[in-house]
Amino acid sequence: MTVAVANCGQKIKEDSLKYNLHSWSVQGDLDPKVITRAEGIYFWDADGKRYFDMSSQLVNVNIGHGNKKVIDAIKDQAEKLPFIGPAFAVDVKSEAARKIIEVAPDNMAKVFFTNGGSEGNENAIKVARMVTGKYKIFSAYRSYHGATYGAANLTGENRRFPSEPGIPGFVKFIGPYTYRAPVEFKNDEEATKYYLTLLREQIEFEGPDKTAAIFQETVVGSNGILIPPNGWMQGVRELCDEYGIMMVCDEVMAGWGRTGKWFAIDNWDVKPDIITFAKGVTCGYVPIGGIIVSKEIASYFDENKLWCGLTYSGHPMGCAAACATIDVYKEEKLIENSREMGEVLGGILENMKENHPCVGDVRYIGLFTAIELVKDKATKEPLVPYGRDPEGTMKKILSILKNEGFWNYSHDNVLIIAPPLTIKEDELKEAMDIMDSVLNFVDDLIK
Ligand SMILES: Cc1ncc(COP(=O)(O)O)c(C=O)c1O
Repeated sequence: MTVAVANCGQKIKEDSLKYNLHSWSVQGDLDPKVITRAEGIYFWDADGKRYFDMSSQLVNVNIGHGNKKVIDAIKDQAEKLPFIGPAFAVDVKSEAARKIIEVAPDNMAKVFFTNGGSEGNENAIKVARMVTGKYKIFSAYRSYHGATYGAANLTGENRRFPSEPGIPGFVKFIGPYTYRAPVEFKNDEEATKYYLTLLREQIEFEGPDKTAAIFQETVVGSNGILIPPNGWMQGVRELCDEYGIMMVCDEVMAGWGRTGKWFAIDNWDVKPDIITFAKGVTCGYVPIGGIIVSKEIASYFDENKLWCGLTYSGHPMGCAAACATIDVYKEEKLIENSREMGEVLGGILENMKENHPCVGDVRYIGLFTAIELVKDKATKEPLVPYGRDPEGTMKKILSILKNEGFWNYSHDNVLIIAPPLTIKEDELKEAMDIMDSVLNFVDDLIK
């Protein structure tokens, strides 16, 4: 039986390599795992090996795998009305938007649905340009906003390069990354002042009367869990108000309880003009994303045409999944669990930083966390250089983690750890014991 499953796994892998183009990879280098089952915080490969899903796949399966309530809601919707065009009023589409607005900051009014996060950002760019009549769009280096053309041009790292030369009017700024700042800050206040001064100056040079929006990942995700210093978000809000610029928070990864709040921006009690979302709104059970706009923006479109549209905007199956997923967050108290388990994980990470020479920095907010690996704590020299891994060091570390049953991913020299928000304390400790033993191996590497 086991041999049969393994053989079948081999065939699936061969077919996948033969027929599928895989994301962000040299195809000939690939050796994809064949996955046959997933439940809660775990998934299993064709050999029956179990993995802790310590990145919730691509930081999207917040409610864990195999949630019955969401699966049933999708099945029911498939029976009732699997699809109808976006121009119609449909109960489940209004209900999903209502539920989203209910948990969003209280200045938010309406939702435009997309199929995912990149499309959310594409439409936010257009909305900001339509409402302000301006065209320049600011976004930060060390950010990821998606792979479609506009979203890739927002992106502040090398996944942008295939979409360059870029779209005219897209401007990059240096956002807060205090661990690697060129100056030492005594506290958050100093850091905030430093970065806001730079941003203000850049807006002045680019022209406030030309600048439509400032896009930010509220907490930078795949580029290393960069948590802004206190005061930064308030400062960006004030700059936006002063210059008539739209503040856009990309909450595709940071939203939906990931940071211990419904949306990451709630950690600083700031109200953006637009929030973009995807991932955790349905946790991947059906793909959906969108933008949430403020009351002011919503009323602008009462008088002006919304030049946005998608065949699948507000897809009933996605909306049914969103309604059920939001109920699961509430019923299972997952936002609270993200906060509580986040504290436990934060404690474990601080111990790792103290005990392992290879751990330069740890960052955590809710269950959105990272370990930054260095060759030397004093100089902060990264374990691998930016954008490159010439000796395949990070690849090796990830492969050892996987062999031990700990599944996550890395970006440059940073290990991202973001388990499902359903994780329990004993599961978290068991998984992090694996990480601890692999860090011993990394300590030996840098000796
Ligand atoms: C912050 C952020 N924005 C946008 C995206 C793009 O979302 P999607 O892959 O659903 O298009 C991602 C994906 O990882 C993301 O992390």
